[in-house]
Amino acid sequence: MTAVATGIDLLSSKSFADGHPVEQYRWLRENAPVFWHDEPGGPGFWAVTGYDLVRQVSKQPDIFSSAAGGIMINEFPPEELEFFRTMILVMDPPKHSFYRRLVGGLFTPKRAALWTDSIGDTVRAILDEVCERGECDLVEDIAGKLPSYVIAELLGIPRADGERLYVLTEIMHSAPDAVTDEQRFAAMGEITGYAAQVRQQKLAEPADDLASRLVVAEVDGQRLTEQEFSSFFLLLLNAGGDTTRNLIGGATVNLLRRPELLARLRADMPGLMPTTVEELLRFQSPVIYMRRTAVRDTELGGTRIAAGDKVAVYYGAANGDPAVFDRPEELVLDRTPNEHVAFGGGGPHFCLGSHFGRIEITEMMTQLLTRFPDLELTGEPTWLASNFISGPTHVPVRYTPSTPIGG
Ligand code: HEM
Repeated sequence: MTAVATGIDLLSSKSFADGHPVEQYRWLRENAPVFWHDEPGGPGFWAVTGYDLVRQVSKQPDIFSSAAGGIMINEFPPEELEFFRTMILVMDPPKHSFYRRLVGGLFTPKRAALWTDSIGDTVRAILDEVCERGECDLVEDIAGKLPSYVIAELLGIPRADGERLYVLTEIMHSAPDAVTDEQRFAAMGEITGYAAQVRQQKLAEPADDLASRLVVAEVDGQRLTEQEFSSFFLLLLNAGGDTTRNLIGGATVNLLRRPELLARLRADMPGLMPTTVEELLRFQSPVIYMRRTAVRDTELGGTRIAAGDKVAVYYGAANGDPAVFDRPEELVLDRTPNEHVAFGGGGPHFCLGSHFGRIEITEMMTQLLTRFPDLELTGEPTWLASNFISGPTHVPVRYTPSTPIGG
């Protein structure tokens, strides 16, 4: 069965123009949870949409490699792929396990929890900047700023530099018709150049921050080299940036469109927020897919996969699987259990920053809904034109102006 024959198209950003294509996902899960998808100009790939199958692929890095062809469906020139392989996300064990051991200790739930107050302060400062205006763009002015500011804070670099890094990551992620390749590479170069300076500075004057710990972290007597440090820095900005921004932007839209749910949440924020955050992650699934490459002939859900085939796991589809989630198309604030795969299917690449992400989302949603009790949409949100990351680009909102809290 081909993509053209069934009207399935998971490559066109149009399919994701208004969020996840739930109808396509449903058809795929019911008819071909391991589906051969055509690819204009490419060999095609397997689209995996069933929950158990997504987990199976994620947990078998020895068969489904991240390093062999990278984590995007499209192919990259060899030198670019080589560069991406310096990032933990594009490595396989045992190299991946080595890096994970090197940095993993800095991202545990305990370590992340130590940052709760500081992340809360950052959220307060962002909301202070917009509270007097009475209207703003929730994505640009609020959700987008948080991850860069938080990563600046974690790494121990000035917030002003965090703002510059935010601008640079925006350039990196702009659609090809908005910026040139030169501008994109220049932005990437500025970030890695900046990271190299941070490394030098932290080696000379270590402080109690993530960057200082990263530069001296050791496994078997080995530390991160300058290039490895810069790559990790770049990955942190990227992996923790759009994802968190899109979750917060999309989550707020979904809640504002469901006034009864929002009222319930507001009435019991401490009680409902933990399960709400998990449900928003499931419902929003900011990362659309991750690709792997089969490194040997294998079988998945009864389908034969050949060595060299590309295999893409669709997290939003797995998170909507009715075999696992009751009424998956509904937002259920107190859903328990909720073993969603928004942070990955549970294998070695499971999101390193998940605990930080959860704190950022919790702090932002709690403060936003508390400080702006009459927050409302003033226009239709526009959605990101991407087949990789899902979320709104602009969400115009208004609220009664208030005075900054400061602090
Ligand atoms: C809503 C927020 C977030 C979502 C939905 C998300 C999702 C993901 C997903 C799907 C993966 C790949 C999992 C796999 O391949 O099995 C991943 C990996 C990763 N994420 Fe996140 N992420 C979020 C926030 C963050 C934050 C805040 C940080 C950093 C502070 C972060 C850092 C990373 C890193 C470093 C990896 C690579 C891990 C590895 O390859 O071992 N993420 N994330």
